[in-house]
Amino acid sequence: MPDEALRIPVLLDCDTGIDDALALTYLACRDDVELAGIVSTAGNAEVAHVTANNLGLTELLAGLLGPGTPVARGSEAPLGGELMTAADTHGPTGMGHAILPEPARAADVRSGAQLWVDAARAHPGRLVGFVIGPHTNLALALEIEPRLPRLLKRLHIMGGAINHRGNTAPTTEWNIAVDPEAAHRVLAAFAQAPIRPVLGALEATEAVRFTQGTLEALQAISAHPIVPVLTDALRWYFEFHEADGFGWMAHVHDPLVVAQAFEPRLASAVPLAVDVELTGALTRGETVGDWLGRWNREPNVEVMREVDADGFVAHLLEVLRRGLRRDP
Ligand code: BDR
Ligand code: CA
Repeated sequence: MPDEALRIPVLLDCDTGIDDALALTYLACRDDVELAGIVSTAGNAEVAHVTANNLGLTELLAGLLGPGTPVARGSEAPLGGELMTAADTHGPTGMGHAILPEPARAADVRSGAQLWVDAARAHPGRLVGFVIGPHTNLALALEIEPRLPRLLKRLHIMGGAINHRGNTAPTTEWNIAVDPEAAHRVLAAFAQAPIRPVLGALEATEAVRFTQGTLEALQAISAHPIVPVLTDALRWYFEFHEADGFGWMAHVHDPLVVAQAFEPRLASAVPLAVDVELTGALTRGETVGDWLGRWNREPNVEVMREVDADGFVAHLLEVLRRGLRRDP
């Protein structure tokens, strides 16, 4: 294991969530990562469920993460509008068919926004931030600490659909559609970041298709108790995708965005000016990319393009296999 001081501090803001759970497990399995905190954001499920899921998962992964990874409960509602949840996609509590242990510890006393700020201040210029759910808590954190874009090493976002059909309304992607105001604020604030955020939008993340073969390969990697949790959760995801007309498979979005931060070879990324539509009667929450430069704005993100989907799935399974083997 790399020296403590050399590990990469990371904050994961998620709405766990089936693919969020895989992303969290991936981070736990990397021995070069120090998970400085988990912020639970309402989205795929209500924030109480998301927080319980993150506590349950960190308990199962405590052999790798250590016992004290802070898990904060974020805001109950988006900045704008009513909360939407996705019980059809992720199950009533967010983890599909999986049953997690009752959390033995409580959530951190801090708000999700405060945990963002504390983690960034504790690791100035080093913290890698991930938003793989709605942007509510990062937007609130910016109110406490407007220097966040300069304090983070880099921000990586799963969200949006650029010139691609949505998965929520016809042109909107879930993480942005749940809280468009928050996503708009975050993108605007991080336009000041020294290094542009990476945006993994649907046109990139949908390149990843888990098949029955992937599910079986995951089932076979280890006898660790996290494995049946992940495969039971994924079975629900497959059932949802099948009911939605995609066949027996699942698009697994979040882990690609997380893995690409450490393994840039998994997806190319190009600069683009991107903004969020806030007022469209049919398109509120759409991410608009200005490929022609009509806005005369500097690019504010690096948007993912070509994905090595097979390479990613192989990499994910290998990191989990190696990591779970290390868990005493
Ligand atoms: C995103 O929405 C959620 O349902 C997934 O966890 C992912 O973060 C995909 O649109
Ligand atoms: Ca998510």
